[in-house]
Amino acid sequence: MAPFFLLAPILLGYAVRAASPTWISLNLSVPSTISDVEINANYVDVLVGTPPQVVQLPIDLQTDAIDVYSSDCAFCPGWDFFDPSLSTTNKPNDRVLNGTNLFNGTWIYDTIGFGGIVESPDIDIGLLTVMSTNYTNFRIRNGGLGLLTNTFRKDPINRLIPRLYESGQLIDPVIGMRLDPSNPRLTIGALDPNDYEGTLNWVELEPDNGDWFKYNVFKIDGFSGRNGSLLPFDDNLLTAVDSMYFDISIPNNLTYFNNTNYTGPVFSINDTVDGYNLDPTFFQISYPCNTSSLFPNISVPHPYVDFSVHINGVSYMIDSDDNLLHQPSQFSPNGFCNVGIVSTSDKITTEPQSVLGLPFLRSVYLAYRFPTGSCPGFFGFAFPKGLNRTQAQVSQTPRATPTLSSQCLSLTRPTSTPIVSRPASPNSASGNYAVYGEDGVQVSLSGADLLVKGIWNATF
Ligand SMILES: *[C@@H]1O[C@H](CO)[C@@H](O)[C@H](O)[C@H]1NC(C)=O
Ligand SMILES: *[C@@H]1O[C@H](CO)[C@@H](O)[C@H](O)[C@H]1NC(C)=O
Ligand SMILES: *[C@@H]1O[C@H](CO)[C@@H](O)[C@H](O)[C@H]1NC(C)=O
Ligand SMILES: *[C@@H]1O[C@H](CO)[C@@H](O)[C@H](O)[C@H]1NC(C)=O
Ligand SMILES: *[C@@H]1O[C@H](CO)[C@@H](O)[C@H](O)[C@H]1NC(C)=O
Ligand SMILES: *[C@@H]1O[C@H](CO)[C@@H](O)[C@H](O)[C@H]1NC(C)=O
Ligand SMILES: *[C@@H]1O[C@H](CO)[C@@H](O)[C@H](O)[C@H]1NC(C)=O
Ligand SMILES: *[C@@H]1O[C@H](CO)[C@@H](O)[C@H](O)[C@H]1NC(C)=O
Ligand SMILES: *[C@@H]1O[C@H](CO)[C@@H](O)[C@H](O)[C@H]1NC(C)=O
Ligand SMILES: *[C@@H]1O[C@H](CO)[C@@H](O)[C@H](O)[C@H]1NC(C)=O
Ligand SMILES: *[C@@H]1O[C@H](CO)[C@@H](O)[C@H](O)[C@H]1NC(C)=O
Ligand SMILES: *[C@@H]1O[C@H](CO)[C@@H](O)[C@H](O)[C@H]1NC(C)=O
Repeated sequence: MAPFFLLAPILLGYAVRAASPTWISLNLSVPSTISDVEINANYVDVLVGTPPQVVQLPIDLQTDAIDVYSSDCAFCPGWDFFDPSLSTTNKPNDRVLNGTNLFNGTWIYDTIGFGGIVESPDIDIGLLTVMSTNYTNFRIRNGGLGLLTNTFRKDPINRLIPRLYESGQLIDPVIGMRLDPSNPRLTIGALDPNDYEGTLNWVELEPDNGDWFKYNVFKIDGFSGRNGSLLPFDDNLLTAVDSMYFDISIPNNLTYFNNTNYTGPVFSINDTVDGYNLDPTFFQISYPCNTSSLFPNISVPHPYVDFSVHINGVSYMIDSDDNLLHQPSQFSPNGFCNVGIVSTSDKITTEPQSVLGLPFLRSVYLAYRFPTGSCPGFFGFAFPKGLNRTQAQVSQTPRATPTLSSQCLSLTRPTSTPIVSRPASPNSASGNYAVYGEDGVQVSLSGADLLVKGIWNATF
């Protein structure tokens, strides 16, 4: 037994449960532009198991679950897989994952942490073991990091971020996030004053409602375009944010697109065609954005999508390039670029009436004060520091302050930034390899050194 006890502290040297409340600032990998064909996911390094395996997971603001793909999952897409057999803290979990023969897995418990600074044991994790080539839903890469703390589960799961807070490892029950490609960042446990500028504009989240199709719903004033007036939708539109959604949905897209007071001038090819194009198949609105065979000898000016979201008296400009104005793709007509402003589906008769996806999250700073005790949840909005916002934009002040501010929103300003470490993963790559059929793509391949080399000496 003695050797075990001698060994144990060394093995447990990986245990990084913070001794006193702290916070963490993580770099993210975000797409440089919004693509019609990609999922446009935003990845963060998550440490799973003991010793920690680094898994880059897409941030998902609309689920509370953490999913990883098992290293033996044949057609799971991505580059970081989790090998539970290498983890000493991996435990079985009775929870049933109601899979299908195309998409299946098991629940497990394991330790999850960030940056060697904080971690929590026994987090419920969805371990995907089957994703058939016939599975036709979005094939999200690597898994998912759900950041919600409130969903309707009859049998709630152990959720990472609340656990970190309840175990005294975080300074405050907050996360901060900016997804702009210039300096994407996720902080947990505190908000970093280096990440945002302007007044934090806090709005209280609505009490959860099982009938809504999104979580963390809040009220906004509305939307404006070129002339600055609010579009004529309901006051106090119920709205959600979604980091896995590449558009902004509003109650009716044509209210905006049909009026140049809102859109501003849109280049028109000829007098018979409106500036925009409404694709009859996808009902997607697109703007002429490129000289093409469709417009011979016409130089098409670069379009600008003029659109702002108004929240509690503050107007947040949404960037056009690489955001609302998508890149040309097979889903846009030749010479046109899709515009990421759509109608909240006519089929959805329930709230919220509007969903703010990536074009919004890439243009603002978002703070999330998750609910604890008698405090409800809040979102706080500000301007990402270093983005080219004007002084007039940044100096706007919120119309009202939430009534529970002093109880729930007195946050500690962090003084120093804990240093993030990125351990060498036991499942880590042994090299980069080209992918058959994908020009220029290199992926890391775990355990490639264990493969027996093929000998190609056949003669034909
Ligand atoms: C964060 O930075 C580290 C060190 O530069 C890098 O290895 C890692 O891939 C980055 N993570 C993401 C999600 O971009
Ligand atoms: C499991 O999935 C099936 C098919 O999707 C569904 O009908 C059933 O209600 C689910 N059961 C549970 C417990 O979620
Ligand atoms: C999903 O996986 C579980 C656990 O391996 C298994 O019991 C179940 O039968 C599978 N479901 C389907 C539909 O294949
Ligand atoms: C995929 O679908 C095809 C056609 O329906 C079927 O023949 C094949 O067996 C399926 N493959 C898997 C792995 O389910
Ligand atoms: C937008 O314009 C189209 C075509 O001119 C018209 O059919 C439609 O009714 C208008 N929609 C709105 C909401 O104004
Ligand atoms: C902006 O346009 C809308 C719709 O045409 C109009 O109702 C509103 O009065 C305009 N606002 C200004 C400031 O001109
Ligand atoms: C645009 O705004 C101007 C000034 O407010 C107004 O006179 C005009 O009718 C508006 N145009 C449309 C199409 O609503
Ligand atoms: C206007 O342009 C569209 C293509 O964008 C074309 O289909 C239509 O025939 C053109 N009309 C005239 C009068 O040139
Ligand atoms: C614009 O059109 C030209 C010629 O049609 C094409 O070569 C180029 O790739 C297009 N640019 C974009 C951004 O689609
Ligand atoms: C475009 O310009 C070229 C030369 O500048 C000319 O030969 C061609 O006929 C023009 N095409 C059209 C459709 O006007
Ligand atoms: C834009 O609005 C029209 C009319 O309501 C609708 O048919 C179309 O589906 C909408 N397009 C998108 C992309 O939401
Ligand atoms: C910031 O830059 C983008 C693209 O370079 C531009 O479209 C936008 O108008 C600028 N914003 C401000 C407030 O100047």
